Amino acid sequence: MDLFDKLANRPSPLGPFTSAGYGYYTFPKLEGPLGPEMKFNGKDMVVWSINDYLGVGSNEEIKKVDAEATAKYSLSAPMGARLMTGNSDEHEALEKELAAFVHKEDAQLLNFGYQGIMSVIHALVDRNDFLIYDELSHACIVDGKQLAMADKSVFKHNDIESFKKQLYRAAAKKKDNSSILVVTEGVFGMTGDLGILPEIIKLKEEVPFRLLVDDAHGFGTLGHDGSGTGTQLECQDGIDIYFGTFAKAVALIGAFVASEPRVIYVKTLCVCLERNMAYS
Ligand SMILES: Cc1ncc(COP(=O)(O)O)c(C=O)c1O
Repeated sequence: MDLFDKLANRPSPLGPFTSAGYGYYTFPKLEGPLGPEMKFNGKDMVVWSINDYLGVGSNEEIKKVDAEATAKYSLSAPMGARLMTGNSDEHEALEKELAAFVHKEDAQLLNFGYQGIMSVIHALVDRNDFLIYDELSHACIVDGKQLAMADKSVFKHNDIESFKKQLYRAAAKKKDNSSILVVTEGVFGMTGDLGILPEIIKLKEEVPFRLLVDDAHGFGTLGHDGSGTGTQLECQDGIDIYFGTFAKAVALIGAFVASEPRVIYVKTLCVCLERNMAYS
C-alpha cells in the first residue's frame, strides 16, 4: 500500500475523535511584542500559553545585548556540532555560570530541551540498568526512555508507595553491574504540582539510586535564587543530575544538564554517548 494513501486513512492520535478534531487544532499566530497581552486575529487577548515566565523575552536591555552579540558574531557562529567546530569560550563560560547557578559542580549545554534530555537519558543507562519514572513525565522523558536499553518501569504520579514498589522490584532484580536511574520532574507542566523530590531522595537510604530531575518549569522561577524546585524544597543536593531548559523562564532555545564533573566529562568525551551533542 502506498504510504501516503495509508496516512490519509489512518486515524490520528485522536483515534475515533479524529474527524471532530479537524479545524480544532490550529497554529495560532499571535501578533505584537511578546507579553501577557497580545493580539490574535486582530483582537486584544490575554496570553496564557507563552512560557516566557519572567517576561525577559521583551526586555529592552536583553534585546540590546542580543543585537550586539549578533552584530559581533553573526547568528551563524560558531557552526557545527560542539565536538567538531561548534565550541567557544562563551559556551564554556556559560556552562560554568549555569553550574554555579543551580548549585552543581559542572554543566553541559544542550542544543534543545526535548532532544537533549532524550539523549541524556540514553547516555546515562545501559542494558544492565533500571530506569524508573513518574507516569506524568513530559513526552521527552517518555521518548528518552524508548531510546534507553534499560529495564523500564513507571510509578503512579507522585505516589511514593507506587515508587517504592518499583524501586524494590529493581533492587531485587539488579545484578552487580546494574544501576538505578530515577527520573521525575520539578514542576509538572500539565498539573502544575511539584515532584515529591524529598520523599524520593529519602529512599536512597534504603536502595541506592541516582536521580535525574527535569526542572524545565522550576529553573529560573522557584527557589529563593531561582535555582529551581530542589532549592525550593530544600533538597537540591539530592538531585544527582539537574536538567533545565531555556525555553521557559529564559525565553530562548537550548537547555543544559548539570551534575558532577565525572558525569559531564564522560558525556562530553564519548562520541558514542551523548549523541545530541555529537551529531547535531
Ligand atoms: C518538562 C519539560 N521538559 C522538557 C521540555 C522540552 O524543552 P524544549 O522546549 O526546550 O525543547 C519541556 C517543554 O515543554 C517540558 O515541559
